[in-house]
Amino acid sequence: MKTKLFLLAAVMVASFTSCLKDEIDTITHNYDPEDYKVIAANLNLPDEVDNYTLNLPQTVGGFEVFADNKQATLGRVLFYDKRLSVNNEVNCASCHKPELAFTDGEQFSPGVTTERTSRNTLALGTFPSFNAYYGFGGTRMFWDNRASSVMEQSAETMKNPVEMGNVDLGELADKLLQEQYYFILFKNAFPYQTYLTNEEKMLTALQAFVSSIGCFNSKYDQELIDNHGDETAQFTKFTTQENQGKALYNTNCASCHNLGAVAFSHGIVAANNGLELDYQDEGVGTISNTQSDNGVFKVPMLRNIELTAPYMHDGRFATLEQVVEHYSSGIKNHPNLHENLKDGSSPKQLNLNESDKQALVAFLRTLTDKESLLASSLL
Ligand code: HEC
Ligand code: HEC
Repeated sequence: MKTKLFLLAAVMVASFTSCLKDEIDTITHNYDPEDYKVIAANLNLPDEVDNYTLNLPQTVGGFEVFADNKQATLGRVLFYDKRLSVNNEVNCASCHKPELAFTDGEQFSPGVTTERTSRNTLALGTFPSFNAYYGFGGTRMFWDNRASSVMEQSAETMKNPVEMGNVDLGELADKLLQEQYYFILFKNAFPYQTYLTNEEKMLTALQAFVSSIGCFNSKYDQELIDNHGDETAQFTKFTTQENQGKALYNTNCASCHNLGAVAFSHGIVAANNGLELDYQDEGVGTISNTQSDNGVFKVPMLRNIELTAPYMHDGRFATLEQVVEHYSSGIKNHPNLHENLKDGSSPKQLNLNESDKQALVAFLRTLTDKESLLASSLL
């Protein structure tokens, strides 16, 4: 009897919607048919992206990064919901746009007030797997490494008066749950976890979604796979210029900016790269109050770097050419300048010629994987 009702309802849903068979499969796998009617009437949740688990190629680890699909689905809906901000005008995606590798193209981002954020928005789409990078090894988030998880980071962002405006998270979660489709999404995401508060469920779901973001299908990745992970090989589908840039990158940049040869290998997580002799924003130093941390910032991953301008913690460089010029001739001899950028006691300016500069930029552009970003992220 139950099965019959179930089928009947599924057929009814099918007759209301357009793409038939696939949709029914998703419905029967993920939702009670009545519930799906409510979901479909309110949200544009495409069925093919319901699987948030990432299968990483050997070149970036070769393992599966498991995601709780239902929690990630709820997190995804939350990520795009403007009710998460105090004036209902700002959502996570206001600053983290999927098509820009989850940045926003701004030097500093507008939030709920006329003020802007004090730092450049960090990209979320620069890792082979966000989860493998942060979830497995305890690496910390933000430019100054102050948050230890997306839950902590999200709570901080929503309570930040400039970003989302001091939201009361408990009240917000209760308010959202009065909405029928949220009630269903919460119920599906947390069927047994009665020990969690609604606020904790909301943050857990946001974490599941953000953690599911990953990019490992750039031109560089495809060539790396073809060359069995040997990043020093001449890549046949690269232009001469891109290969020239790759060699320069391997010699001068990869010691700090690893490209995730192993998705969870962190290498150097924070460093000073000589932007200033005297920083207005001391980065990790503002948190630790330790002299040797002054001017030290997160070493960002450079996947999709073409999409995430402007660059550095304060968005000071509008283009990749300007970034390369910094490493070529502009490194300042800050007392904490990292040894990888030093030659004895002086900064190691790369003194690149024009051809090398262009080659390096051309190589950085091979790290773009727009498709993965969009597939895993749009609502
Ligand atoms: C007003 C713009 C703005 C909004 C809205 C916003 N963020 Fe951010 N986000 C930033 C900025 C700026 C940073 C870097 C802050 C810093 O390091 O001090 C950041 C950093 C992060 C990081 C850390 C990434 C890393 O690699 O360290 C995560 C994760 C994140 N945001 C997720 C979210 C989520 C989830 C939401 C919604 C709940 C959100 N953000 C809303 C601007 C924003
Ligand atoms: C000592 C380690 C180190 C080396 C070597 C290094 N970088 Fe960086 N890089 C950093 C740090 C730290 C930052 C962030 C600094 C800040 O914002 O204050 C950064 C930032 C960047 C950014 C901006 C990223 C963003 O999301 O805004 C780019 C692009 C970049 N580096 C490219 C390169 C290139 C190309 C090379 C080689 C020529 C290189 N880096 C060498 C440590 C390093």
